[in-house]
Amino acid sequence: MATAPEALAAFHDYEPEPEDFEAAVIAGLSKPQKTLPCKFFYDEAGSALFDRICELEEYYPTRTELALLETRAPDIAALAGPRCHLIEFGSGSSIKVRILLDAMESPEAYTAVDISREHLLKSTEALAAAHPEIEVHAVCADYSKPLELPRPERHPDARPVAFFPGSSLGNFGAEQATRFLRRTADMLREGRGDLVIGLDLQKHVSILIPAYDDAEGVTAAFNKNILARANRELGANFDLGGFTHRAIYNDEFSRVEMHLVSDRDQQVTVGGRHFRIAAGETMHTENSHKYTIDGFRRMASEAGFIPAAAWCDAGNLFSIHYLKTV
Ligand SMILES: C[S@@+](CC[C@H](N)C(=O)[O-])C[C@H]1O[C@@H](n2cnc3c(N)ncnc32)[C@H](O)[C@@H]1O
Repeated sequence: MATAPEALAAFHDYEPEPEDFEAAVIAGLSKPQKTLPCKFFYDEAGSALFDRICELEEYYPTRTELALLETRAPDIAALAGPRCHLIEFGSGSSIKVRILLDAMESPEAYTAVDISREHLLKSTEALAAAHPEIEVHAVCADYSKPLELPRPERHPDARPVAFFPGSSLGNFGAEQATRFLRRTADMLREGRGDLVIGLDLQKHVSILIPAYDDAEGVTAAFNKNILARANRELGANFDLGGFTHRAIYNDEFSRVEMHLVSDRDQQVTVGGRHFRIAAGETMHTENSHKYTIDGFRRMASEAGFIPAAAWCDAGNLFSIHYLKTV
């Protein structure tokens, strides 16, 4: 287990892996439509690949959300008010949150929640070093499950403002997304807290598909990293050369799906279990649901939030919502 870097107030390790990983791979490969859950993309190598995706020309969400955050940071800071406790889900490299921390009046604390342990520690350490005035907590946990977050030690009553950027909510189906939002609203309400969430918008497939299937093949490597990780951590024997990355748009569910397509009939062994994969059969690895502003506001309201503001860029590519609980 990693130890807490010095600059951090605390590192809370809820140890979300690895038994979960083996059980999830076996359960996923046992289904008629084989699946591998996308939260397991993110080990150290997967997080580094995701950071490369964010730099790609085709991957418009990161630069669009960053620009929108820069423009709207004063509005967000005004709604949040002074001395907040910012809580970020899926904090990754903790880049976007810096825009909010810089705009907010005297933020007291920052808690980063991420499943990718080493990357989380590196990123929060860098942020804590740059902001010694802020109490920084790192929480290694799976945010798709109920979770009790630490309170800041110096200012336990600081108003919580959650931040969920990157359209990561879109990895959940509608039911799971509503469940996550309801749990988050319930957690925030006691402290009269708010949620700032970034969501990708519905748009033409000619923009969507290249964002998930870039010319350089970085997203393909990111998708296949889940196989490499299963080989490394579970002693599985996936042949990475025997699968091809595929991104498709599923109109019925307004989502981009990532799959790994088997190039031939093959057999893989995981945890002593054998699975046949036919030529052309796919393992479905990720969903990225795309929203409309009104559709998401309805979902947030059903989950107990009060939509306070929504912003999008001039090209209607990406949206940021400010939701209140009281
Ligand atoms: C799409 S990336 C977004 C990163 C960053 N927030 C951004 O907007 O660029 C998703 C992040 O959430 C983390 N993550 C994915 N599923 C998770 C889960 N179930 N629980 C906790 N963290 C998760 C990943 O490790 C990764 O850092």
